Amino acid sequence: MPQPTRQFESRAGAVCIFESPGQACEAAADRIAAVLLSAARASRKAVLGLATGSTPIAVYKRLVEQHRHGALSFSHVHTYNLDEFYPISPTDPNSYRAYMQRHLFDHVGIPPNQTHVLDGTVPERAVAEHCQQFERWMEADGGLDLQLLGIGRNGHIGFNEPCDLPLEEALCLRTRLVSLHPVTTADAAKDFGGSQERVPRHALTLGVAPILAARSILILALGRNKTEAVARALEGNPNAELPASLLQTVAAKVRWYLDEEAAAALR
Ligand code: PGA
Repeated sequence: MPQPTRQFESRAGAVCIFESPGQACEAAADRIAAVLLSAARASRKAVLGLATGSTPIAVYKRLVEQHRHGALSFSHVHTYNLDEFYPISPTDPNSYRAYMQRHLFDHVGIPPNQTHVLDGTVPERAVAEHCQQFERWMEADGGLDLQLLGIGRNGHIGFNEPCDLPLEEALCLRTRLVSLHPVTTADAAKDFGGSQERVPRHALTLGVAPILAARSILILALGRNKTEAVARALEGNPNAELPASLLQTVAAKVRWYLDEEAAAALR
């Protein structure tokens, strides 16, 4: 298990800084593996909230390796993904369903009916019901043991984008259809042939409230692009303009895994 070079408590939770992105990802994978193993030992299901994007790819790679070596079973694991583009087909290679199949689900023997990704094909009139249903499924599974998060360059968590809601209202945001922020579509363009125009304008996202309700939260941020958002989330006041700062309201159960670059602006 890689050890952090520095760790301390912040307003937004425990911070662990690793020498390299690879080490931060290995440590994140090992933490997830520990949740799976402890649930298996207690004959319980393990319920994970999962993230997509470039950051967690190496985390999933290590989990797949551990599974291949026989060290990690996924038969008792139930997963709920944070978000999905809308509209998008699950067979579209840019869908987050396809991403999860490619990077994790296809390689670890997880029963397909235990994996949940918001459905980018539901008709608009059925979206609200689908989002409520998704939260009900999570609750029926006992709630999330661990939510894995990334952070957007604009500070988003899931696709909860910066907005001007008062703090109390932002904390109550549920799972819903949202418009994507221009920074998000700009950052996603590389996956859509370099064209921001091709990125869907909307998405389905787990709300702030169900994210913060997870029993533990692991947020992973790597590289220079995240330096400013990380510093504002950890050191600024909690507010909806920087959604990751809302983690300050549940700091006792939050852990930040950073590389040196993402941590570069921390005091
Ligand atoms: P990234 O996205 O891992 O592709 O940087 C993180 C996020 O937007 O949450």
